[in-house]
Parts: sequence; structure tokens; C-alpha cells
Amino acid sequence: MIWASRILIWLNNYGPPPGSAEETFGQVMAKDLKPYRDELIISSKAGYTMWDGPYGDWGSRKYLISSLDQSLNRMGLEYVDIFYHHRPDPETPLEETMRALDHIVRSGRALYVGISNYPAEKTREAAKILRELGTQCLIHQPVYSMFNRWVEPELLNTLKEEGIGCIPFSPLAQGLLTNKYLGGNIPEGSRASKAHGFLKPANITNDKLAKVNKLNEIAQSREQTLAQMALAWVLRHKCMTSVLIGASKVEQIEDAVGTLNRLDFTAEELEQIEVILK
Ligand SMILES: NC(=O)c1ccc[n+]([C@@H]2O[C@H](COP(=O)([O-])OP(=O)(O)OC[C@H]3O[C@@H](n4cnc5c(N)ncnc54)[C@H](OP(=O)(O)O)[C@@H]3O)[C@@H](O)[C@H]2O)c1
Repeated sequence: MIWASRILIWLNNYGPPPGSAEETFGQVMAKDLKPYRDELIISSKAGYTMWDGPYGDWGSRKYLISSLDQSLNRMGLEYVDIFYHHRPDPETPLEETMRALDHIVRSGRALYVGISNYPAEKTREAAKILRELGTQCLIHQPVYSMFNRWVEPELLNTLKEEGIGCIPFSPLAQGLLTNKYLGGNIPEGSRASKAHGFLKPANITNDKLAKVNKLNEIAQSREQTLAQMALAWVLRHKCMTSVLIGASKVEQIEDAVGTLNRLDFTAEELEQIEVILK
């Protein structure tokens, strides 16, 4: 498969309120993007809480199929390109969840399916079940950044062995790996300044700031921004299909695209980064 250069990722419950991000995207799609549908990779997920009761969360067949139907309705689409199961469900048999993904592909609701936040062993099991059903597990969406390296010991190798792509999220540690918090202040309107969301002021510790400042020196010596270096660092693994960026401003997207000007690292730069991250 050849990857389109434009990948848009949504999730059933993005908001607030849940579903509103997909509704907004549906309006943009109808107004601006419709002529470009075949150039876009549009995806959605389900696996976290979307509505009350046991069928609005986790990994049952009932939840995944009805949630995707609702997502398609909100976005005004007939199908998504990739549909992900968002997290492993300890209660629902993995077979049921994978059968639901297989059904979703066969019914035309999605062209491909993937998984997110699955550890290595569960990824292997999920890929095997899907393969036996005749559907490929196309891609995995794990969190990965200089500050969260859980994928390195096992998952990346598993993906390589299973022939599954990888598109990591939160590569900038939600903005921490940019020049935004370098001086220790929390700018108004930034993610850390907001009551909702996962980046809390308490996460911006002195230890993190010391590391970010040292990393920024290396980025400057490479003539790129810290965000660009952090994205290039994630993409240094050959198994990375792409990287997922979040942005609150157009300039942040432009900054991210500038990463493509310098993707390579010298062995010395990588070693310096290792020392800082230890
Ligand atoms: N599968 C999952 O479980 C899961 C979980 C979380 C996210 N995701 C997906 O992954 C995407 C990316 O995650 P993320 O948003 O956490 O990624 P991220 O790239 O780590 O953080 C993005 C945030 O960093 C700040 N930023 C980005 N570029 C910047 C720049 N050049 N200079 C200064 N600040 C910059 C912005 O925050 P400000 O608002 O402060 O400007 C932006 O919203 C999400 O949009 C979502 O689609 C998936």
C-alpha cells in the first residue's frame, strides 16, 4: 500500500463533548475537503468511554460496530480508511474484538483496521486472529516520545516481525518537547494551562525542564527546532510508518513539516541524547 501524505485521525469521543470533533470534521469535510476524499486517509477509533452502559466502552462487537456507525454518521462518510481498536479489553475475549474488526472491513465500513495501546504479546495474538480471519492488522498506534520509550524493549520488534506499521502518538510529550515551556512558564492557552487534558503543570518538573533545555541545545546545533528534532528522533526507526502530531495553531503544523529538512542523526548526536534522557 502507498501511504497518502494526508492522514487525519479522529476518535469517537474527542471533544468535549464526546463526538463534537467528528461533527466539526464532518462540516469541514462537507464544505472543503469532499473533492479530496480519495487523497485522504481518514481514521477513527473506539475503545474508551463513549456512552453510558456496558456497550459504550471497551471492546465488544456491539460497541465497536455501533460506535463506528455513529462516527460515520457524524463525519458524513460512507467508510473510514482505518478503524482502530483503542485499547485491550480485559473482559471481552480478544477473538470477539478481532472478529468485530474483521466484520467492519468486510462490511465496507473501513478499508483497514489497526490497534492502539496494545502491549507486544497482545499485539501478536490480535494479529494472528485477524490473519486467520483473512484480515491484516495494518498498523499500531502507541504512545512514543523521548519521554515515553515503552515501545522500545519489545513492541517495535514485534511489529517488525508481524509486518505491522507503527504511527506513534504524543511524540512531543503533549508540547513538553517544544520550546513552549523552556523557561519554566506555562503560557496562557497552552495545553498545560487548561483544566481538561492530560498535561498537568505538575508534569513540568525541574528535571524535565533541565532535560528539555539540554535537548534544545542539540536541536539548535542541528539547525532545527526542538519539536522538529523530537519528531525526527521518533521517526529514526525504520519501522515507523508516520507520526501523529497534534496542533493548536497552523504554525505548529508548519514547524512539524519542517522536520523533513533534517531527519538523519549522527551517532554522536544520538549518544548525547541518550545521556540526557537517562
Ligand atoms: N491512541 C491514543 O490513545 C491517543 C492518545 C492521545 C492522542 N492520540 C492522537 O495523537 C495525536 C497527537 O497527540 P498529541 O496531541 O498528544 O501530540 P503531541 O505532538 O505530543 O502534542 C501536541 C501539542 O503540542 C503542542 N505543540 C505542537 N507543536 C508545537 C510547536 N511546534 N511548538 C510549540 N508547541 C507545539 C500543542 O499544544 P498547545 O495546545 O499547548 O499549543 C499541541 O497540541 C492526537 O491529536 C490524537 O489524534 C491518540
